[in-house]
Amino acid sequence: MPRQIIIDTDPGQDDGVAILLALGSPADVEVLGIVAVAGNAPLPRTALNARRIVALAERTDIPVFAGCARPLLRDLVTAEHVHGETGLDGHDFADPTVDLQPRHGVDFLIEALSGPHAAVTLCFLGPLTDLAMALIKAPDCARGIREIVLMGGAYFEVGNITPAAEFNIYVDPEAAAVVMRCGRPITMLPLDVTHTVLNTRERLARIAGLGNRCGTAVANMLNFSERFDVAKYGWSGAPLHDPNVIAYLIDPTLYAGRTVNVAIETTSELTRGMTVVDYWGVTERPANVQYLRSAQADGIYDLLVERLGRLP
Ligand code: BDR
Ligand code: CA
Repeated sequence: MPRQIIIDTDPGQDDGVAILLALGSPADVEVLGIVAVAGNAPLPRTALNARRIVALAERTDIPVFAGCARPLLRDLVTAEHVHGETGLDGHDFADPTVDLQPRHGVDFLIEALSGPHAAVTLCFLGPLTDLAMALIKAPDCARGIREIVLMGGAYFEVGNITPAAEFNIYVDPEAAAVVMRCGRPITMLPLDVTHTVLNTRERLARIAGLGNRCGTAVANMLNFSERFDVAKYGWSGAPLHDPNVIAYLIDPTLYAGRTVNVAIETTSELTRGMTVVDYWGVTERPANVQYLRSAQADGIYDLLVERLGRLP
């Protein structure tokens, strides 16, 4: 039986690739719905982009909802400097042929988690605003969460949007703090992992060489979004972030880490959104997160190429 998942996302090229990886893996994951959140770009853009991706994959049967338009307390910070004006620059997408669902994304999350037998895996590829809102509005819905798997945070690699913080956690640190305390299993894919999964020329050429529409779109998107990071880091390719959430669900043996306490800095402006990871167990704070630290990049790209190849 495939694992039932909901993807909450702020596309974002790497978000788009993550959604496509899930859609190419129906034996592993069943996508119940996609919730767009404000993050890499404002909500109208991310909600449009999520529909562009499902339309690209000819999966307009998957409902797409709009979630929260801004963080719990803070003004929205976006990342068009990385992702371009549309949030999904690099590929020329057709206008999506599917409408947004009328219900709010937070209400969809609550309803999906509140069935008597709900056991849903929540995949977070952007700020954690929607889940924090759901947990505040309907705390009992936490019972329906099988596992939370999220791209966010950093410890050994520290920050990408500030010296101390990773973007998804930085944008809505209060939401992340709510989620860290929710009492359900959490797995984090931080920069410590994603900075080792690089879009090298060879890997991008394999994806472009698939020759299908989705492979071409992924190669175009990643070719665009890697410019900023390659200039910034000087590595042989840009980090691939969000697809690791889905790759982990498909094959967790590609990753390694340990279960530790993670707390979120919310009061300091200097270190706002820092993920304080007790990796070496120097406090008595209870373990709340499986914190992944390393990955097998070749295996992840093999998986990605194979699954993208199954799409139109
Ligand atoms: C995260 O921030 C976004 O720009 C990416 O989509 C990813 O989710 C990496 O810090
Ligand atoms: Ca993202």
